[in-house]
Amino acid sequence: MSEQPQPKTIGILKTPDDPRVCLLPKEVKRLTGELKLNILFEPGLGSSLEIEDEEYVLAGASCQSRELIFKNADTIVSINHTFSEVEMKGGCCFIGIFNPLFHDSKLAIYQNKGATVYSLDLLPRTTLAQSMDVLSSMASLAGYKAVIKAAETYNGVFPMFTTAAGTLTPVKVLVLGAGVAGLQAIATARRLGAIVEAFDVRKSAGEEVRSLGATFIEVEGYTESSNAGGYAVAQSEEYQKKQKDLIHNHILSTNIVISTANIPGKKAPLLIETRSVAAMQSGSVIIDLAAEQGGNCELSKNKETVYFKGVTVIGNSSLSAEIPAAASKLLSNNYFAFLKYKQHAEEPENDPLLAACRVLNDGQWSHPHFTRQLQPA
Ligand code: NAI
Repeated sequence: MSEQPQPKTIGILKTPDDPRVCLLPKEVKRLTGELKLNILFEPGLGSSLEIEDEEYVLAGASCQSRELIFKNADTIVSINHTFSEVEMKGGCCFIGIFNPLFHDSKLAIYQNKGATVYSLDLLPRTTLAQSMDVLSSMASLAGYKAVIKAAETYNGVFPMFTTAAGTLTPVKVLVLGAGVAGLQAIATARRLGAIVEAFDVRKSAGEEVRSLGATFIEVEGYTESSNAGGYAVAQSEEYQKKQKDLIHNHILSTNIVISTANIPGKKAPLLIETRSVAAMQSGSVIIDLAAEQGGNCELSKNKETVYFKGVTVIGNSSLSAEIPAAASKLLSNNYFAFLKYKQHAEEPENDPLLAACRVLNDGQWSHPHFTRQLQPA
């Protein structure tokens, strides 16, 4: 009699310093039930969301120490890098949001261990991959939270207030980068009654911006690339100068800036110079969601708040972690969709979605960004 294949074992790890959880009991139940996977989880996996270990056990998972998870699991899932080389066993598969195009030096330990690494932030932004699109889920929440945070920090009000004691004018918000985070920031700021202007290099963003009731501002002369998968590409120096001048002029009458402009795998474009911050009214607020990639504002420091001439500059690229219950709900659906897709893929080696987000395959670079670098010039 032929031997039955053993079910795969997936270990779920906590990410220190991040209250988000990548798989919730509801999706774990589907992994153990529908997909017949063995699921191991680290004690306290859901403690940041008040989820007891018992709920994971009821969903069919087993609670094991971190050490045993590394020993027993074929695949480790986590939000991002949470492991040391000492912990890893050879040939394991890792799934997370590793931002490898930016943090490529962290990948050496996976390579040394012959690991396979899938980084979900590299999934193409296509209809087929929509249910697994962690970037959109987290960017959308970050755009929303950025506006809420700005509203709390700003010492004025968002909507127009007409009272017997006088009228307060609505706040002016400038959104830089009208991708997923930027559009959500525009929608949230508009709902709160702000006057919103938005800027993006992609002309196609203009229609979306206007449909949300904001004014689109643009600089002529943008170069698009059909190879960029819908993303923006770096621009000429001349364009960048025109862009900074335009933003400088608009920022003078702006109270709040939410900046979200990014170019995948590259340093974020510098859009707000120190002279522009100095020219802002005292009490203004800048929230820089591109801070991890170097920031859109010259003064931004990632995960820090800087005060400059009466302006508060908050650099934070993980604002979704400040609404961890909402973020975990979306992440859990994204991770489940990915694990299901991977399990059902007939030819994982050649599957276009899996290949697009596979950085290492048994310790060998497999993503074009890295294989290109290995080719002789
Ligand atoms: P992102 O996080 O890479 O960048 C954010 C925004 O910054 C983008 O709109 C980009 O054009 C803009 N930007 C870059 N350089 C700039 C500069 N110098 N000045 C001003 N703005 C600048 O982008 P995100 O939000 O991840 O979206 C990327 C693309 O993917 C967009 O075209 C979006 O519509 C598309 N998308 C498609 C989905 C689908 O399912 N088909 C899902 C999500 C996004």
